[in-house]
Amino acid sequence: MKNSVKVFSPGTVSNVGSGYDIMGFAFDGPGDILEIIIDRSGEIIIENRSDSDIPCDENNVIHPALRALLSQADKEYGARVIIHRKISPGSGIGSSAASSAGAVFGANALLGMPFNDLELIDFALQGEKLVSGQAHADNVAPCIMGGFTLVRSYKPLDVISIPYPADLYCSVVHPALQLKTSESRSLVKSSVATSTAVQQTGNASALIAGLILNDKKLIARSVVDLIAEPARKHLIPYYDEIKAAAISKGALAFNISGSGPSVFAFTDSQEKAENISEHISGTLLLKGIKSMRYASAISGKGVRII
Ligand code: HSE
Repeated sequence: MKNSVKVFSPGTVSNVGSGYDIMGFAFDGPGDILEIIIDRSGEIIIENRSDSDIPCDENNVIHPALRALLSQADKEYGARVIIHRKISPGSGIGSSAASSAGAVFGANALLGMPFNDLELIDFALQGEKLVSGQAHADNVAPCIMGGFTLVRSYKPLDVISIPYPADLYCSVVHPALQLKTSESRSLVKSSVATSTAVQQTGNASALIAGLILNDKKLIARSVVDLIAEPARKHLIPYYDEIKAAAISKGALAFNISGSGPSVFAFTDSQEKAENISEHISGTLLLKGIKSMRYASAISGKGVRII
């Protein structure tokens, strides 16, 4: 049996405006590169060779995610995970999900694929629980399955792959600051008025319909968030200005990526996606804020062996 594998685990945009904690998609951009080695030590060792300052002890998301998988496979199994490259932690593009999803995907491959995608998402959720206090699957699901995913239910876990237009492109910009998911989550109210729930459900359902029907105008008017965006946008520098900047360059829709500070926009060509990313970054730079920028189609490829 092969005992070592290297994986690329992609960045993901979650929430997607109207889908707080239930929607997400993978894109071609940053990713974690992890090497996973399975042994019979019963222990999990993490080695960080990336530039990011991250814990290697039980506070690393890989720990609970892999522990959940290995203890179901065989308690004698242990693993060593070498982190070669890391999405910036606290970026809002699924950094923790990429690590936990990558580790469980790699371990599953080495063990001969005993677990299906849903089980892998469930294991990886243990990592999300560690960093954000709550297990949300809107980043780990697209990271593992690729494409655009919808979490219909958490108990039991039910995740659906949603078809999406081949020419739906995204711009993703990460202003150079870190936000802790647990802190961003604490700003979101634990309950909303029925009238808000009605509007949010309408937009979320319409976004899914727009993706399936390839109706970009419907997608554009459905990326509306009444739950997280109003509570969090003040954390992102010049949010209203960069939103206006993106729309002025042809963005169909714009919102916060995950719990921020990254933002994303949808558009209908790679060229426009690049222009929008550049314009958002340029607007931020004029204010003295550096950023990383990406532009790609929604990617059908989730975590994979390299
Ligand atoms: N849905 C989660 C949140 C994503 O918005 O808190 C965190 O990356």
